[in-house]
Amino acid sequence: MIFIDACKRKDTPYTPIWLMRQAGRYLSEYREVRAKAGNFLDLCKNPALSCEVTLQPIDILDCDAAILFSDILVIPLEMGLGLNFLKNEGPKFETCIRNNNDLGILQTNAYKKLDYVYDTISLTRAKLSKDKALIGFCGAPWTLATYMIEGQGSKTYTHSKKMLYTNPNLLRNILEKLTNELKLYLESQIKAGVDAIMIFDSWAGALEEKAYIEFGFNYINEIADYIKKTYSNIPIIVFPKGVGGFLDRFANLNSNFDVFGIDWGTSMKNAKHILGDKFVLQGNLEPCRIYDMEAMESGIDDIINIMGNTSGHIFNLGHGMLPDLPVSNAIRLVQLVREKTKR
Ligand code: CP3
Repeated sequence: MIFIDACKRKDTPYTPIWLMRQAGRYLSEYREVRAKAGNFLDLCKNPALSCEVTLQPIDILDCDAAILFSDILVIPLEMGLGLNFLKNEGPKFETCIRNNNDLGILQTNAYKKLDYVYDTISLTRAKLSKDKALIGFCGAPWTLATYMIEGQGSKTYTHSKKMLYTNPNLLRNILEKLTNELKLYLESQIKAGVDAIMIFDSWAGALEEKAYIEFGFNYINEIADYIKKTYSNIPIIVFPKGVGGFLDRFANLNSNFDVFGIDWGTSMKNAKHILGDKFVLQGNLEPCRIYDMEAMESGIDDIINIMGNTSGHIFNLGHGMLPDLPVSNAIRLVQLVREKTKR
Protein backbone atom coordinates (compact mmCIF):
# COMPACT_ATOMS: atom_id res chain seq x y z
CA MET A 1 0.00 0.00 0.00
CA ILE A 2 1.48 3.30 -1.14
CA PHE A 3 -0.11 5.19 1.74
CA ILE A 4 1.36 2.86 4.39
CA ASP A 5 4.78 2.91 2.71
CA ALA A 6 4.70 6.71 2.76
CA CYS A 7 3.83 6.72 6.49
CA LYS A 8 7.02 4.68 6.98
CA ARG A 9 9.06 7.03 4.76
CA LYS A 10 9.65 4.34 2.14
CA ASP A 11 9.98 5.25 -1.55
CA THR A 12 6.63 5.40 -3.40
CA PRO A 13 5.84 5.93 -7.11
CA TYR A 14 4.09 9.25 -6.24
CA THR A 15 3.02 11.19 -3.15
CA PRO A 16 -0.15 9.57 -1.81
CA ILE A 17 -3.20 11.74 -1.20
CA TRP A 18 -6.42 11.56 0.79
CA LEU A 19 -8.62 14.36 2.13
CA MET A 20 -9.83 14.95 5.66
CA ARG A 21 -13.65 14.69 5.67
CA GLN A 22 -13.49 13.13 2.21
CA ALA A 23 -16.76 11.30 2.94
CA GLY A 24 -19.43 13.91 3.53
CA ARG A 25 -22.06 16.35 2.43
CA TYR A 26 -20.23 17.73 -0.63
CA LEU A 27 -21.02 14.36 -2.27
CA SER A 28 -24.63 13.93 -3.45
CA GLU A 29 -24.07 10.16 -3.11
CA TYR A 30 -23.37 10.72 0.62
CA ARG A 31 -26.51 12.84 1.09
CA GLU A 32 -28.59 10.08 -0.49
CA VAL A 33 -27.25 7.39 1.84
CA ARG A 34 -27.66 9.65 4.89
CA ALA A 35 -31.31 10.20 3.95
CA LYS A 36 -31.75 6.42 3.70
CA ALA A 37 -30.25 6.01 7.21
CA GLY A 38 -32.48 8.77 8.69
CA ASN A 39 -29.84 11.06 10.20
CA PHE A 40 -26.08 11.31 10.72
CA LEU A 41 -25.90 9.29 13.96
CA ASP A 42 -28.16 6.55 12.57
CA LEU A 43 -25.80 6.40 9.61
CA CYS A 44 -22.79 5.99 11.96
CA LYS A 45 -24.63 3.14 13.73
CA ASN A 46 -25.40 1.30 10.48
CA PRO A 47 -22.30 -0.70 9.38
CA ALA A 48 -23.56 -1.52 5.86
CA LEU A 49 -24.35 2.12 5.07
CA SER A 50 -21.23 3.45 6.87
CA CYS A 51 -19.18 1.06 4.75
CA GLU A 52 -20.86 2.39 1.62
CA VAL A 53 -20.01 6.03 2.41
CA THR A 54 -16.45 5.12 3.49
CA LEU A 55 -15.89 3.72 -0.01
CA GLN A 56 -17.53 6.61 -1.94
CA PRO A 57 -14.43 8.87 -2.03
CA ILE A 58 -12.32 5.92 -3.19
CA ASP A 59 -14.68 5.27 -6.11
CA ILE A 60 -15.33 8.95 -6.93
CA LEU A 61 -11.96 10.64 -6.18
CA ASP A 62 -9.58 7.64 -6.26
CA CYS A 63 -7.85 8.61 -2.98
CA ASP A 64 -4.99 6.39 -1.76
CA ALA A 65 -6.61 5.80 1.62
CA ALA A 66 -10.15 5.48 2.94
CA ILE A 67 -10.99 6.81 6.39
CA LEU A 68 -13.50 4.93 8.49
CA PHE A 69 -16.87 6.69 8.40
CA SER A 70 -17.83 7.51 11.98
CA ASP A 71 -17.31 10.45 14.32
CA ILE A 72 -14.94 11.29 17.17
CA LEU A 73 -17.99 11.96 19.39
CA VAL A 74 -19.18 8.33 19.55
CA ILE A 75 -16.81 7.88 22.53
CA PRO A 76 -18.47 10.53 24.77
CA LEU A 77 -21.84 9.32 23.44
CA GLU A 78 -21.14 5.79 24.67
CA MET A 79 -19.67 7.12 27.95
CA GLY A 80 -23.24 8.14 28.73
CA LEU A 81 -23.62 11.75 27.55
CA GLY A 82 -26.64 11.79 25.22
CA LEU A 83 -25.69 13.26 21.84
CA ASN A 84 -27.74 14.93 19.09
CA PHE A 85 -26.63 16.51 15.85
CA LEU A 86 -28.94 19.46 15.26
CA LYS A 87 -29.36 20.85 11.76
CA ASN A 88 -27.02 23.83 11.21
CA GLU A 89 -26.01 23.81 14.89
CA GLY A 90 -23.60 20.89 15.05
CA PRO A 91 -23.29 18.42 17.93
CA LYS A 92 -25.08 18.99 21.28
CA PHE A 93 -24.74 16.79 24.37
CA GLU A 94 -27.69 16.30 26.72
CA THR A 95 -25.38 16.30 29.77
CA CYS A 96 -22.03 18.00 30.30
CA ILE A 97 -19.23 17.65 32.84
CA ARG A 98 -18.63 20.86 34.81
CA ASN A 99 -17.81 19.82 38.41
CA ASN A 100 -16.46 16.93 40.49
CA ASN A 101 -19.94 15.46 41.02
CA ASP A 102 -20.55 15.25 37.27
CA LEU A 103 -17.61 12.82 36.93
CA GLY A 104 -19.84 10.02 38.22
CA ILE A 105 -21.94 10.29 35.05
CA LEU A 106 -19.07 8.99 32.93
CA GLN A 107 -19.36 5.27 32.23
CA THR A 108 -16.36 3.04 31.57
CA ASN A 109 -16.09 0.39 28.83
CA ALA A 110 -17.56 2.67 26.17
CA TYR A 111 -15.27 0.87 23.69
CA LYS A 112 -17.30 -2.30 24.28
CA LYS A 113 -20.44 -0.57 22.99
CA LEU A 114 -18.92 0.34 19.66
CA ASP A 115 -19.44 -2.88 17.71
CA TYR A 116 -21.09 -0.82 14.98
CA VAL A 117 -17.68 0.79 14.37
CA TYR A 118 -15.77 -2.50 14.38
CA ASP A 119 -18.36 -4.08 12.04
CA THR A 120 -18.00 -1.13 9.64
CA ILE A 121 -14.22 -1.67 9.67
CA SER A 122 -14.32 -5.39 8.90
CA LEU A 123 -16.96 -4.93 6.18
CA THR A 124 -14.99 -2.07 4.61
CA ARG A 125 -11.59 -3.76 4.78
CA ALA A 126 -13.11 -6.79 2.99
CA LYS A 127 -14.49 -4.62 0.15
CA LEU A 128 -11.66 -2.09 -0.18
CA SER A 129 -9.05 -2.75 -2.85
CA LYS A 130 -5.87 -4.32 -1.41
CA ASP A 131 -3.68 -1.41 -2.51
CA LYS A 132 -5.75 1.18 -0.58
CA ALA A 133 -5.29 1.70 3.14
CA LEU A 134 -8.11 1.94 5.68
CA ILE A 135 -7.50 4.59 8.35
CA GLY A 136 -9.14 4.23 11.76
CA PHE A 137 -9.35 7.24 14.08
CA CYS A 138 -10.33 8.82 17.35
CA GLY A 139 -10.48 12.31 18.81
CA ALA A 140 -7.62 13.28 21.11
CA PRO A 141 -8.52 13.42 24.83
CA TRP A 142 -8.29 17.24 24.98
CA THR A 143 -10.59 17.79 21.97
CA LEU A 144 -13.13 15.26 23.26
CA ALA A 145 -12.96 16.82 26.73
CA THR A 146 -13.84 20.25 25.31
CA TYR A 147 -17.07 18.85 23.83
CA MET A 148 -17.89 17.06 27.10
CA ILE A 149 -17.26 20.17 29.21
CA GLU A 150 -18.82 22.78 26.90
CA GLY A 151 -21.66 20.41 25.90
CA GLN A 152 -21.25 21.54 22.29
CA GLY A 153 -18.77 23.19 19.94
CA SER A 154 -17.22 26.46 21.11
CA LYS A 155 -15.25 29.44 19.84
CA THR A 156 -13.70 30.36 23.19
CA TYR A 157 -13.60 27.09 25.22
CA THR A 158 -14.28 29.15 28.33
CA HIS A 159 -15.62 26.34 30.53
CA SER A 160 -12.81 23.97 29.55
CA LYS A 161 -10.04 26.50 30.11
CA LYS A 162 -11.61 27.75 33.33
CA MET A 163 -11.51 24.15 34.57
CA LEU A 164 -7.87 23.83 33.46
CA TYR A 165 -6.76 26.78 35.59
CA THR A 166 -9.21 26.53 38.54
CA ASN A 167 -9.66 22.76 38.94
CA PRO A 168 -6.89 21.06 36.95
CA ASN A 169 -7.33 17.76 38.79
CA LEU A 170 -10.88 17.45 37.52
CA LEU A 171 -9.69 18.03 33.95
CA ARG A 172 -6.89 15.47 34.48
CA ASN A 173 -9.47 13.00 35.72
CA ILE A 174 -11.60 13.46 32.59
CA LEU A 175 -8.53 13.20 30.33
CA GLU A 176 -7.37 10.01 32.07
CA LYS A 177 -10.77 8.37 31.69
CA LEU A 178 -10.80 9.30 28.01
CA THR A 179 -7.22 8.10 27.49
CA ASN A 180 -8.04 4.68 28.97
CA GLU A 181 -11.07 4.30 26.69
CA LEU A 182 -9.22 5.50 23.60
CA LYS A 183 -6.35 3.02 24.02
CA LEU A 184 -8.80 0.11 24.02
CA TYR A 185 -10.97 1.69 21.31
CA LEU A 186 -8.04 2.06 18.90
CA GLU A 187 -6.79 -1.43 19.76
CA SER A 188 -10.24 -2.80 18.90
CA GLN A 189 -10.20 -0.88 15.59
CA ILE A 190 -6.83 -2.46 14.75
CA LYS A 191 -8.15 -5.93 15.60
CA ALA A 192 -11.12 -5.25 13.29
CA GLY A 193 -8.77 -4.46 10.40
CA VAL A 194 -7.62 -0.83 10.09
CA ASP A 195 -4.17 -0.33 8.53
CA ALA A 196 -3.31 2.98 10.22
CA ILE A 197 -4.60 5.22 13.01
CA MET A 198 -5.19 8.97 13.10
CA ILE A 199 -5.70 11.01 16.28
CA PHE A 200 -7.55 14.30 15.68
CA ASP A 201 -6.73 17.10 18.13
CA SER A 202 -8.84 19.71 16.36
CA TRP A 203 -8.84 22.19 19.25
CA ALA A 204 -5.17 21.93 20.25
CA GLY A 205 -4.79 25.58 19.21
CA ALA A 206 -7.12 26.73 22.00
CA LEU A 207 -4.30 26.23 24.51
CA GLU A 208 -0.99 28.01 25.13
CA GLU A 209 2.17 25.96 24.66
CA LYS A 210 2.76 24.84 28.25
CA ALA A 211 -0.88 23.94 28.88
CA TYR A 212 -1.12 22.08 25.58
CA ILE A 213 1.90 19.90 26.25
CA GLU A 214 0.63 18.99 29.72
CA PHE A 215 -3.11 18.64 29.06
CA GLY A 216 -3.11 17.73 25.38
CA PHE A 217 -0.01 16.25 23.90
CA ASN A 218 1.10 14.08 26.84
CA TYR A 219 -2.13 12.09 26.69
CA ILE A 220 -1.77 11.55 22.93
CA ASN A 221 1.76 10.26 23.57
CA GLU A 222 0.47 7.87 26.18
CA ILE A 223 -2.05 6.46 23.66
CA ALA A 224 0.61 6.18 20.92
CA ASP A 225 3.00 4.37 23.32
CA TYR A 226 0.27 1.91 24.26
CA ILE A 227 -0.58 1.11 20.63
CA LYS A 228 3.05 0.88 19.48
CA LYS A 229 3.95 -1.55 22.30
CA THR A 230 1.75 -4.23 20.67
CA TYR A 231 1.27 -2.97 17.12
CA SER A 232 4.61 -1.42 16.16
CA ASN A 233 3.73 -1.93 12.49
CA ILE A 234 0.60 0.24 12.48
CA PRO A 235 1.42 3.85 11.51
CA ILE A 236 -0.01 6.56 13.77
CA ILE A 237 -0.85 10.04 12.46
CA VAL A 238 -1.38 12.90 14.91
CA PHE A 239 -3.14 16.13 13.85
CA PRO A 240 -2.81 18.85 16.50
CA LYS A 241 -4.56 21.73 14.76
CA GLY A 242 -3.33 25.23 15.53
CA VAL A 243 0.06 24.53 17.13
CA GLY A 244 2.15 26.23 14.41
CA GLY A 245 3.46 28.76 16.94
CA PHE A 246 5.40 26.15 18.91
CA LEU A 247 6.41 23.43 16.45
CA ASP A 248 9.93 23.38 17.94
CA ARG A 249 8.54 21.83 21.13
CA PHE A 250 7.45 18.73 19.20
CA ALA A 251 10.90 18.34 17.66
CA ASN A 252 12.45 17.92 21.11
CA LEU A 253 9.86 15.76 22.90
CA ASN A 254 9.97 11.98 22.94
CA SER A 255 7.09 10.66 20.87
CA ASN A 256 6.14 7.41 19.34
CA PHE A 257 4.10 8.29 16.26
CA ASP A 258 4.98 8.39 12.58
CA VAL A 259 3.13 11.20 10.84
CA PHE A 260 2.51 14.80 11.94
CA GLY A 261 -0.57 16.47 10.39
CA ILE A 262 0.01 20.11 9.41
CA ASP A 263 -2.98 22.46 9.37
CA TRP A 264 -3.45 25.12 6.66
CA GLY A 265 -2.56 27.96 9.04
CA THR A 266 0.93 26.57 9.65
CA SER A 267 3.80 27.24 7.24
CA MET A 268 4.74 23.98 5.51
CA LYS A 269 8.22 25.38 5.02
CA ASN A 270 8.71 25.86 8.77
CA ALA A 271 7.13 22.48 9.47
CA LYS A 272 9.54 20.77 7.08
CA HIS A 273 12.51 22.61 8.55
CA ILE A 274 11.58 21.91 12.18
CA LEU A 275 9.82 18.52 12.04
CA GLY A 276 10.60 17.02 8.62
CA ASP A 277 13.45 14.79 9.79
CA LYS A 278 11.53 13.44 12.75
CA PHE A 279 8.07 12.88 11.22
CA VAL A 280 6.54 12.25 7.82
CA LEU A 281 4.38 15.36 7.26
CA GLN A 282 0.76 15.29 6.12
CA GLY A 283 -0.99 18.33 4.69
CA ASN A 284 -1.76 21.13 4.19
CA LEU A 285 -3.80 22.64 1.32
CA GLU A 286 -6.21 25.35 2.48
CA PRO A 287 -9.59 23.67 1.77
CA CYS A 288 -11.16 26.89 0.41
CA ARG A 289 -8.68 26.85 -2.50
CA ILE A 290 -10.80 23.99 -3.88
CA TYR A 291 -13.52 26.55 -4.70
CA ASP A 292 -11.35 27.76 -7.57
CA MET A 293 -9.29 25.65 -9.95
CA GLU A 294 -6.48 28.23 -10.34
CA ALA A 295 -6.22 28.85 -6.60
CA MET A 296 -6.19 25.10 -6.08
CA GLU A 297 -3.42 24.43 -8.56
CA SER A 298 -1.17 27.19 -7.25
CA GLY A 299 -1.71 25.89 -3.69
CA ILE A 300 -0.74 22.39 -4.82
CA ASP A 301 2.39 23.71 -6.54
CA ASP A 302 3.49 25.66 -3.47
CA ILE A 303 3.23 22.57 -1.27
CA ILE A 304 4.97 20.27 -3.75
CA ASN A 305 7.76 22.82 -4.26
CA ILE A 306 8.44 22.74 -0.52
CA MET A 307 8.02 19.01 0.10
CA GLY A 308 9.59 17.87 -3.19
CA ASN A 309 8.52 14.71 -4.91
CA THR A 310 10.41 12.37 -2.62
CA SER A 311 9.40 10.41 0.47
CA GLY A 312 8.40 12.14 3.70
CA HIS A 313 5.11 13.69 2.59
CA ILE A 314 1.45 12.65 2.39
CA PHE A 315 -0.72 15.16 0.54
CA ASN A 316 -3.91 16.24 2.35
CA LEU A 317 -5.94 19.32 3.16
CA GLY A 318 -5.02 21.51 6.12
CA HIS A 319 -8.51 20.79 7.59
CA GLY A 320 -11.68 19.06 6.42
CA MET A 321 -13.64 19.28 3.16
CA LEU A 322 -16.48 21.82 3.35
CA PRO A 323 -20.07 20.86 2.42
CA ASP A 324 -20.28 23.12 -0.65
CA LEU A 325 -16.90 22.46 -2.30
CA PRO A 326 -17.20 21.40 -5.97
CA VAL A 327 -16.70 17.64 -6.43
CA SER A 328 -15.20 18.10 -9.91
CA ASN A 329 -12.34 20.19 -8.46
CA ALA A 330 -11.72 17.62 -5.72
CA ILE A 331 -11.44 14.90 -8.38
CA ARG A 332 -8.96 17.06 -10.28
CA LEU A 333 -6.98 17.70 -7.06
CA VAL A 334 -6.24 14.00 -6.66
CA GLN A 335 -5.24 13.66 -10.34
CA LEU A 336 -2.99 16.74 -10.24
CA VAL A 337 -1.10 15.64 -7.13
CA ARG A 338 -0.52 12.23 -8.66
CA GLU A 339 0.71 13.71 -11.97
CA LYS A 340 2.89 16.37 -10.40
CA THR A 341 4.62 14.02 -7.94
CA LYS A 342 5.22 11.07 -10.26
CA ARG A 343 8.79 9.85 -9.67
O1 CP3 B 1 -14.53 11.45 5.79
C1 CP3 B 1 -14.14 11.46 6.98
O2 CP3 B 1 -13.29 12.27 7.39
C2 CP3 B 1 -14.61 10.37 7.91
C3 CP3 B 1 -15.53 10.66 8.93
C4 CP3 B 1 -15.37 11.77 9.97
C5 CP3 B 1 -16.46 12.59 10.35
N1 CP3 B 1 -16.07 13.35 11.40
C6 CP3 B 1 -17.79 12.56 9.74
C7 CP3 B 1 -18.74 13.67 9.97
C8 CP3 B 1 -14.28 12.12 10.76
C9 CP3 B 1 -12.86 11.60 10.74
C10 CP3 B 1 -14.74 13.12 11.68
C11 CP3 B 1 -13.90 13.71 12.73
C12 CP3 B 1 -14.44 14.80 13.55
N2 CP3 B 1 -15.71 14.97 14.03
C13 CP3 B 1 -13.63 15.84 14.09
C14 CP3 B 1 -12.15 15.99 13.90
C15 CP3 B 1 -11.76 16.52 12.57
C16 CP3 B 1 -12.07 17.97 12.36
O3 CP3 B 1 -12.85 18.24 11.42
O4 CP3 B 1 -11.52 18.81 13.06
C17 CP3 B 1 -14.48 16.68 14.84
C18 CP3 B 1 -14.07 17.94 15.59
C19 CP3 B 1 -15.79 16.11 14.80
C20 CP3 B 1 -17.01 16.60 15.50
C21 CP3 B 1 -18.11 16.95 14.58
N3 CP3 B 1 -18.80 16.03 13.79
C22 CP3 B 1 -18.66 18.22 14.32
C23 CP3 B 1 -18.19 19.51 14.99
C24 CP3 B 1 -19.68 18.05 13.40
C25 CP3 B 1 -20.64 19.12 12.92
C26 CP3 B 1 -20.01 20.05 11.99
C27 CP3 B 1 -20.32 19.63 10.59
O5 CP3 B 1 -19.39 19.58 9.77
O6 CP3 B 1 -21.50 19.38 10.34
C28 CP3 B 1 -19.73 16.69 13.04
C29 CP3 B 1 -20.62 16.06 12.04
C30 CP3 B 1 -20.02 15.22 10.98
N4 CP3 B 1 -19.01 14.32 11.16
C31 CP3 B 1 -20.43 15.17 9.61
C32 CP3 B 1 -19.64 14.20 8.99
C33 CP3 B 1 -19.74 13.75 7.57
C34 CP3 B 1 -21.57 15.98 9.01
C35 CP3 B 1 -22.85 15.35 9.43
C36 CP3 B 1 -23.93 15.44 8.40
O7 CP3 B 1 -24.00 14.55 7.54
O8 CP3 B 1 -24.70 16.38 8.47
